[in-house]
Order: sequence, then C-alpha cells, then structure tokens
Amino acid sequence: MRNKLPIYVDYNASTPVDPAVAEEMRPYLSEYFGNASSKHWYGYKSREAVELARASIAECIGCAPHEIVFTSGGTESNNFAIKGIAYANRHHGNHIITSSIEHLSLLQPCRYLTTQGFELTIVPVDEYGVVSPDNVRDAIREETILISIMHANNEVGTIEPIEEIGEFAKELGIYFHTDAAQTIGKIPVNVDDLGVDLLTIAGHKFYAPKGIGALYIRDGTEIDPLIGGNGQEFGLRAGTEAVAPIVGLGRACQLVTESLDEMRNHTFKLMQRLFEMFISDIPAVKLNGHPTDRVPNTLNLSFPGVVAPDLLSAAPEVAATPLSECNEGICKVSHVLEAMGVPENCAPCSIRFSLGKWTTEADIDDIVDFISSRYESLLEKQNRVA
Ligand SMILES: Cc1ncc(COP(=O)(O)O)c(C=O)c1O
Repeated sequence: MRNKLPIYVDYNASTPVDPAVAEEMRPYLSEYFGNASSKHWYGYKSREAVELARASIAECIGCAPHEIVFTSGGTESNNFAIKGIAYANRHHGNHIITSSIEHLSLLQPCRYLTTQGFELTIVPVDEYGVVSPDNVRDAIREETILISIMHANNEVGTIEPIEEIGEFAKELGIYFHTDAAQTIGKIPVNVDDLGVDLLTIAGHKFYAPKGIGALYIRDGTEIDPLIGGNGQEFGLRAGTEAVAPIVGLGRACQLVTESLDEMRNHTFKLMQRLFEMFISDIPAVKLNGHPTDRVPNTLNLSFPGVVAPDLLSAAPEVAATPLSECNEGICKVSHVLEAMGVPENCAPCSIRFSLGKWTTEADIDDIVDFISSRYESLLEKQNRVA
C-alpha cells in the first residue's frame, strides 16, 4: 500500500495532536466551558481540570505544580523568561549570556534588552553546534544575572551540556534558563537533573495543540510578569486560562511520562535507517549536528551541489524543512548553520528531517527514493547546463 503523500517529516516544526489528547480536550470545548476563575460549578470544573493538567506537567519535568505557569507557547515562554528575569533583577546586574544557535524567540528579546540598558554576550558553538561550558563560564561577570542556553537545537538536534552549566550557575547564584521546546517527549527532561531555574515548554512540539505552552519557574525566582491584568497564574501571566488547550498539554505530558522510551526507540531506529540509506545512495551527503549527542528524531543532512529549496521543490512528496532560502542564485542560510561554520558548499543544501510517532519504515524508504532520484536528476541537469 502506498504511503499517504506528502510524507510528513517536520515534527520539529509542529506535531499533529494525539487522538488521546484531542479526546481529553473535547468536553472542555463544549459542556465544561466555564471560566476557571468563576465561583460556581462551571468555574470549578474548569479550575479542577487546569490544576490536574498543571500536576501532570509538573510530574513530567520533576517540579512542584505551582512552579508551572501556562503561556501561549514556546515564544511567549522564552520572552517571559528573558524579559521577566531581566526587569526583576536589574538592581543586581544588567548582563545576560546566551548562545549563537538559540531560537529567534530567545535571541530577539535578548537583543531587544540591549536597547534597554542590558548587555549581552553571545557565546559561539563548535562545528557540531555544541556550546562549551568553559566559554559560558569565561563570559560570566559580576553583573551577570541570567544564562540562557537551549536544551537541544531545533535545526540540527544537538543536545547542549546543560547539567554542567547548571552546576556553576547554581554555585554562582546566577539564574539559568533552558529552552526545552525540542526535548520534551524526545529525551528525559528533569529540572533538578538539569540544574535550571526556568524552562520553556511548547505544547505543539509533542502532540498537544498549537497555542499552549508553559514556563517552569523555580520557587523563589524573582521574575516580573510579561502580561499584566487580572492576576491569573499566581499573578505572573494574566488572561483567562485556555482550559481546553491546557487540558491537552496535561494529557500530552502524561503520554510523555508513560511512553518516552518507546518514542525514543521508535524515532531513533527510523532516523538511523534514514541516515544509512541516504549515505548508501548518495555517499556525498554530510551530517550537520552532533554525530551522537542529538535528539533521536532529528537528522539534518546537506546534499552538496543542489540547494535545499530546489531539492524539496523537486520532491513535493516529502514534507521536510530546507534550512536556507534561495532567490536567483543567492542563498540565505540559517543562523544556526552559519554559527556552526558549515561550509558554503553545504550550508545552502541542508534539509532537516524530523521524525515522529507516526513515521513508519515505509515512509523512510519512500523518502530516500524520492529525494535520491530527484537529487541525481537535478545534478545531471546542472552538469548538462554547465
Ligand atoms: C527551540 C524552540 N524554541 C522556541 C520555539 C517557539 O515555540 P512556539 O512555536 O510554541 O512559539 C520553537 C519553535 O520552533 C523552537 O523550536
């Protein structure tokens, strides 16, 4: 039987909602519609569901329920962490440290703060996209109030040495935030093991709906709210709680708690298969990202000689992400590949394949067939023109 086309291998961009998550949310879209702040039966039903979800999320990452604040997703959580810590702690210092491969939802607020009297150090990464803890330590100053390094990168999957950084951040009393948008549901995430004070959660990266996320905030952390109003979420994030998506996020976290190992093994096996088949078909392909310390579902490959947007346009059966934009022969490559120093002949030719729960072996075989055949014909065509 043929696969459903196009074959979706863009789970790092967004996942479908798990049917179990949708099922759990359904009553909160209809009969249990109350405002969680209302003091009557409808309100109490919603409040109860919100608090149960908070407890499931807390269990998933090893914290107390009151350390979870619901947000609209990864972007808001990152903005909240960065701006919230900066504004609440400017009397202690004005220096922030981050890395060159962070998501733009982290880098942009950091850059914005430099227009508000804050100073920023962006530490580099090595060729695999790894941040060196020594570089982070060397960047620390008397005025440093926050370090923010992502748990794993969304484009190449490299896992960062968060535990090591967490140890010295704690010793020195500097707040430490990690963006775990790409690790929950892929590898274990525990706030105490990582040694972080703040951690970003984005629901739609692990089978909850879009538009819901959370920020873990360790007890005792001084942080300003990003959104003011009616005092919801312990006074830290105003706005009527999005009950159904919150319930969905809670259920998605339960699924992670129940079946992380199964998920890891499933995607790892398929990712390896994809890699091996590509290498055997096209020996020139190059892996971007760490060879082993990567989230198990992510494979970023360069197909030298053919720019990624052209290759994916020629293979519309495959829904993957090109990491460059090309216009009339001029390519703009991602800031992540640039920071890793990926050579000019490879960076514009890079494609991210990110696998998930519903990827199958047959998908992998078809992807390799589609991509390899189009790659060969595009190369041939270019050679003929040349
Ligand atoms: C590492 C990382 N952080 C943050 C975000 C932003 O999350 P959201 O799409 O929920 O705003 C993303 C989304 O791609 C991401 O990959």
